[in-house]
Amino acid sequence: MYRTATLVSTAALLLAIAAHGRAFAQQGAVDPAALPDAEGKAILTRVCAECHDLQAVVVKRLTQRQWRDITTDMASRSARIDAAEIPTLIEYLAQNVGHVNVNKATEAELKTYGGFSPAEATAIIAARSQGQTFETLDALKALPGIDVKTLDARKDRIAFK
Ligand code: HEC
Repeated sequence: MYRTATLVSTAALLLAIAAHGRAFAQQGAVDPAALPDAEGKAILTRVCAECHDLQAVVVKRLTQRQWRDITTDMASRSARIDAAEIPTLIEYLAQNVGHVNVNKATEAELKTYGGFSPAEATAIIAARSQGQTFETLDALKALPGIDVKTLDARKDRIAFK
């Protein structure tokens, strides 16, 4: 009886995980194997794969602030990371598994994590200061000065809320 219940709940969990993986795959989740080599990747691989696999870490793009919160949280769960390594890892994740909220990011964040040119970042900030918000990629494309072609290529790095 107990055993059947355990089997059923294990099966349900596996199904939930499979469904989860598919949902993120459709949103263009990041493949950990494709992440560029750098000091940040070495830290990520050594520290963050200890309790869960890396696919679970890079399953969705987050802002620099969210990566900072998560990394701090994981460090407090006794992840084996040196204090000096934390900023390197946060920057690595923000740049390679990151996105920016075009309605909230600072000009510097738009450039660093969203890949916007200085002129584009300035145009976005100016539009926002006049009360404009962007709900969709098309709305952003309609802003004068935005390079529509490069925007399509990095749409995964752009969030609207
Ligand atoms: C000591 C074990 C441990 C280590 C090491 C660890 N994690 Fe976690 N991680 C967890 C646990 C436990 C959860 C599930 C937390 C929850 O659901 O509240 C989790 C969940 C996550 C999540 C999903 C969070 C969410 O809100 O959905 C992310 C992202 C994550 N970890 C990133 C990292 C990163 C980045 C590192 C490396 C700095 C790391 N983890 C190292 C234990 C660990």
